[in-house]
Amino acid sequence: MDYMDLKLPNHLGIIMDGNGRWATSRGLSRSEGHREGARNLKSLLSYIFDKGIFCVSLYAFSTENNKRDKKEVDYLMKLFMKLFKEEFSFLKDLDVKVVFSGRIHFLPSDVWSAASFLEEETKMCKSGILNICLNYGGQYEIVDMVKKISLDVMEGRIMASDITKEVVLENLYQNLPPLDFVIRTSGEKRTSNFMIYQAAYAEYYFPETYFPDFSEKEFDLAILEYNKRKRRFGGN
Ligand code: IPE
Ligand code: IPE
Ligand code: MG
Repeated sequence: MDYMDLKLPNHLGIIMDGNGRWATSRGLSRSEGHREGARNLKSLLSYIFDKGIFCVSLYAFSTENNKRDKKEVDYLMKLFMKLFKEEFSFLKDLDVKVVFSGRIHFLPSDVWSAASFLEEETKMCKSGILNICLNYGGQYEIVDMVKKISLDVMEGRIMASDITKEVVLENLYQNLPPLDFVIRTSGEKRTSNFMIYQAAYAEYYFPETYFPDFSEKEFDLAILEYNKRKRRFGGN
């Protein structure tokens, strides 16, 4: 598709949902669904950054996903480790900086050290940002922000009366531009705690496709839909 005359979201969010259903509908294990989701993610990210989108936030693992069977959580942790250590080097080639949001230090140490490795490897990149939400919950992000600001107030670095939206933003996990467009695959129509502060005026799109099948063509359709939306931000 020709992207020449299309408006692009500056910050795109993707809630990658439906890996499990994709797999069970084929008689495969949920882990195989996650593997296929990861395979799809790599090609999709190349496509998205190539089209000129600057910032992408990915919902990879929620704080609530820890409730899943140990076998599935262990598989996901191994998969993340492999991706960050071995398979995401293409992002550096695309000049994309990778950052993480979430309570990463609660994860197994080899996962957060792989995440730190990727952050370090790409920290000089300037053409794009990939924010990976890992062990992430929007409510915990707000809790953690309140704790940081409270400490600043207690230790005299800021007065409570000087707290603004900008101060809040600076104390979230990452200081990113507001989300413009959020795609959630698999037909579920909810946010499940994804970047609830940053998505205040985001447009949402809920395609039925399970994430492993969410192709470049489907992404083109999402962008066409985004171009039909009239954003008002509370104005006329
Ligand atoms: C999304 O797919 C991936 C993660 C939450 C890690 P799901 O695993 O939620 O797939 P469904 O929703 O069960 O199909
Ligand atoms: C949201 O999907 C989390 C990720 C995609 C990582 P879930 O599958 O966990 O959400 P619910 O349980 O359907 O709300
Ligand atoms: Mg799901």
